[in-house]
Amino acid sequence: MKFIVIEKEHRPHVALIRLNRPKELNALNLELMRELKQGLQELDKDEGTRAIVIAGNERAFAAGADIKQMAGKNSVDMLKIDQFSTWDQIRKTKKPIIAAVSGFALGGGCELSMLCDMIIASETAKFGQPEIKIGVMPGAGGTQRLTKALGKAKAMELVLTGDFLSAHEAEKHGLVNKVVPVEFYLDEALTLAQKISAMSPLAVALAKEAVNRSFETFLDEGLHFERKNFYLLFNSEDQKEGMEAFIEKRPPKFTGK
Ligand code: CAA
Repeated sequence: MKFIVIEKEHRPHVALIRLNRPKELNALNLELMRELKQGLQELDKDEGTRAIVIAGNERAFAAGADIKQMAGKNSVDMLKIDQFSTWDQIRKTKKPIIAAVSGFALGGGCELSMLCDMIIASETAKFGQPEIKIGVMPGAGGTQRLTKALGKAKAMELVLTGDFLSAHEAEKHGLVNKVVPVEFYLDEALTLAQKISAMSPLAVALAKEAVNRSFETFLDEGLHFERKNFYLLFNSEDQKEGMEAFIEKRPPKFTGK
């Protein structure tokens, strides 16, 4: 892998993916996104991994899709390349993904953080959809996910002006889970991932799927979907172990079976 680095040594059952194009502020070119998709697919299959953190560096999570790679393209080129099809694959990741955001999370970078399940931000984080300033608009989910997170008025303002949202504003509007000083943001994200990785991986995967379904469906269908996943878990050993451990007043030992 050239543009991402996968590290597994930080916490048990937690994998960290670092975006690694620092000179270009981690601009998301096609190759980086392909590697990210592949890395996530491998980690999704890896039995030793239960939660994933995606981080950039202190200056930038990612400053958007690679403008230099897109600048000369026309609509037919863009349709043929279909660069966002890799994003559909990333969206299918079953394990929980936490974005650890410091510095710029702009355009595709903001969209990538919102594609993750949770966001831990450093106080220096800046979120925004500045595509309007370069004559286009968000293309990887920004108009949908930002609107769902912030509500129509604020999302419309950001998408139409390209203004940035500070970490504390993002927290106030519910876009991020927590804001911490820059020296702690990665540690905080890894700690959250570790906490989740102590749970039953089956229950985590089905619960993630059900929460995400609430964005994609009407309440009735969402409730039905949630209930089906809940009942399904009662065929797992982890459900038996988790409930027995509670009754026996001891910590559970989850195996993913
Ligand atoms: N694409 C390609 N290169 C980028 C980039 C991007 N999105 N963002 C930054 N870079 C490059 C810069 O060109 C520069 O390269 P050189 O040193 O070779 O000139 C390098 O990264 C450092 O950037 P700056 O010198 O601009 O750093 P700065 O601190 O002065 O400014 C910034 C930082 C405000 C983030 C500025 O770089 C910027 O505005 N970047 C573009 C942000 C943007 O418009 N993102 C949306 C892209 S479109 C998109 O994402 C579509 C979608 O929906 C998926």
